[in-house]
Amino acid sequence: MGPASAIAELIDKNAAKPLYLQVKDALLQVIDAKGIPPHRRIPSEREISEATGISRMTVRQAIRSLILEGRLYTVPGKGTFVAEPKIEQRLQHLTSFTEEMTRQGLRPGSQVVEAARLPASPHCARMLQVEPDTPLFYLARLRLANGTPVALERAWLSLERFPGLVEIDFSQRSLYDVLRNEYHVSLDHAVQFVEAAIADETLAALLQLPRNAPLLAFERVTYDPDDRPIEFVQSAYRSDRFRLSVSLDTLSETKNAVQRLVFTR
Ligand code: GLP
Repeated sequence: MGPASAIAELIDKNAAKPLYLQVKDALLQVIDAKGIPPHRRIPSEREISEATGISRMTVRQAIRSLILEGRLYTVPGKGTFVAEPKIEQRLQHLTSFTEEMTRQGLRPGSQVVEAARLPASPHCARMLQVEPDTPLFYLARLRLANGTPVALERAWLSLERFPGLVEIDFSQRSLYDVLRNEYHVSLDHAVQFVEAAIADETLAALLQLPRNAPLLAFERVTYDPDDRPIEFVQSAYRSDRFRLSVSLDTLSETKNAVQRLVFTR
């Protein structure tokens, strides 16, 4: 049985579940059951509509929703394809982009969008605990996984503490590698926020996404063991390519007591 007929088999027009959701779930089930690999074409809107007797508009709604979730992607004029599985971004470890990609068997890469010396804005100055107008190194990089742009990272670091960063070619070097090996900095801990965001025109063009595509926005300040800020970083990750993971413990009574101690100290 072809995939379009297999989808049709799973549809129950009398069920209460909206038809577009039925098509969406059936498509995922068929991709999984038939082991359709990433980058293989799925049946077209017309084929699914003909096999199921469901309007093309409803089928389109199901496909669009799977594209937004990053399960499928389209190539104009070619069709709709199964997307690669999402990259896992662990939240509990202080790792670099290079380390995270390598761990998952992906080839990390960077394209430098801007590398400049500039005076600290009031916000950057607060984040890095320096005086406003202190000279900073600003590095904007498009981060690549197997050659595909997956994130835009903008980092600010003090040039007083790290003179010479301007001379380094960050399309070839990892920032954490440079900080550890050339400046002998120990990246000890960080505070990071994650928020939902959408791609404006510039981000959409850089990340090869439609305008308003959903993104994961991170903001991180990384500190050395003496609690001195090292980097302030704002990044936008493609949410169709990443999912976040955290491992959780039970908060037992003893742990609870320890936590209370820590927070009330
Ligand atoms: C991660 C962090 C950034 C950090 C970067 C360094 O993506 N979110 O805060 O600057 O890694 O990456 P690399 O060492 O690969 O240049």
